[in-house]
Amino acid sequence: MASAEDGYASAPATSRTAGRPLTVEDIKRDREVDAYVTKADEYTRAIGYTEHGVRHASLVANIAGNVLRRLDPEERAVDLAAIAGYLHDIGNVVGRVNHEHTGAVLAGRVLARLGMDPVEMAIVMGAIGNHEEETVSRSARWGRRSSSRTRWTCTGRGSATPIRRRSISTIA
Ligand SMILES: [Fe+2]
Ligand SMILES: [Fe+2]
Repeated sequence: MASAEDGYASAPATSRTAGRPLTVEDIKRDREVDAYVTKADEYTRAIGYTEHGVRHASLVANIAGNVLRRLDPEERAVDLAAIAGYLHDIGNVVGRVNHEHTGAVLAGRVLARLGMDPVEMAIVMGAIGNHEEETVSRSARWGRRSSSRTRWTCTGRGSATPIRRRSISTIA
């Protein structure tokens, strides 16, 4: 059980990095992050998904960082991409459906506790919240059909990104 003694549950919103910017290595060492990544992996495995733990998080962090390294000359953008990559699936600890949104909010809590700059935090949260293609296309569809309510059902098992649209029905 987390407690104030381990500096985990009630840590003040000040940086633990002594003034230097937060990096993905700091994120990897954080107990709360580790708990989310580990449990999210356990839960997604239980419902038939492939590995979604430290290996997946680290791989995505590396890829995201490498992509930004090629696209953006600013080293900080690389760091933020890697952080977002590492945290992108922690929302699975709450539930698979809309895990990108719950993950963004969870990440915001962690990053605030670790003292990340609010603008950087917003960038990371936005990246996490939009990492599922299905949600992005759903948002676009909602934008086009603002006068009707459309229900989406997400389901799927057994692949890295198994959510797919099973049915779309207009309910109003
Ligand atoms: Fe993922
Ligand atoms: Fe995901």
